[in-house]
Amino acid sequence: MTELSLNVLDIVNNSIRANANLIEITVSIHRKSDTLSIEIADNGCGMTEEELKRVQDPFYTTRTTRGVGLGIPFFQQAALSTGGSFAIKSKPGIGTRVTAIFGLSHIDRMPLGDMNSTIYTLIMANRQIDFLYTYVFDDRQFHLDTRELREILDGIPLDTPQVSNYIKEYLEENQKDVNGEYTV
Ligand SMILES: Nc1ncnc2c1ncn2[C@@H]1O[C@H](COP(=O)(O)OP(=O)(O)O)[C@@H](O)[C@H]1O
Ligand SMILES: [Mg+2]
Repeated sequence: MTELSLNVLDIVNNSIRANANLIEITVSIHRKSDTLSIEIADNGCGMTEEELKRVQDPFYTTRTTRGVGLGIPFFQQAALSTGGSFAIKSKPGIGTRVTAIFGLSHIDRMPLGDMNSTIYTLIMANRQIDFLYTYVFDDRQFHLDTRELREILDGIPLDTPQVSNYIKEYLEENQKDVNGEYTV
C-alpha cells in the first residue's frame, strides 16, 4: 500500500465485518510534535485477549476467503517504521480501537492520500453504518457526523445525489480551510 488512506479503508473494513454500526475515524496532524495520528474506533463484536494477541501476527485471520490477514500488521509496521507507535484495544461485545501514530516528517511516512474519498466511499457504501470523521490540523479541526446529517435530513438517504455532492464538497472545503497551504 502506498497511501495511509488505503490502510484506513482496510482497517475500517475490519470494523464493518465486525458488525459495527458506529465507526469513528480521527486523523490528527500536529506539526509541533511532528506527529500524524490515525485512530479508528468501532462498536463491533470486539476481540478476546487471545484473538487480540494473534491479530498482530501476519498469518492470523478469521476470514476464509484469503489465507493471511495483513491489514493490521501492515498498518502497525507502517507506523513503527516512522519512529511512531501502534496500539489496539478491544473488548468482546464492546468494540475495538486501533491507534497508529506516525512521525509526520519521517522519510518513510507514506502520504496520507485521499482521506476524503475514503470517507466518502465508506459513507456511500455502508448506508446502515454511522461514521464520525474528525480531521485535526494543529489547532484547527472539523468533523463530519452522519448521525447529525441524518437528523437534519429527516429520512432523505445520504446517497441521494444532492446530499452526496454536499458531503463531498463539505469534506474538500473543510480540509482545505483547515490545512491552509500545507500538503499532508
Ligand atoms: N475491528 C475489529 N473488530 C473485531 N475483530 C477484528 C477487528 N479488526 C481485526 N479483527 C480480527 O483480526 C483479524 C485480522 O485482521 P487483519 O489484519 O486486518 O486481516 P484480515 O482483515 O485480512 O483478516 C480479522 O480477521 C478479525 O478476526
Ligand atoms: Mg483487514
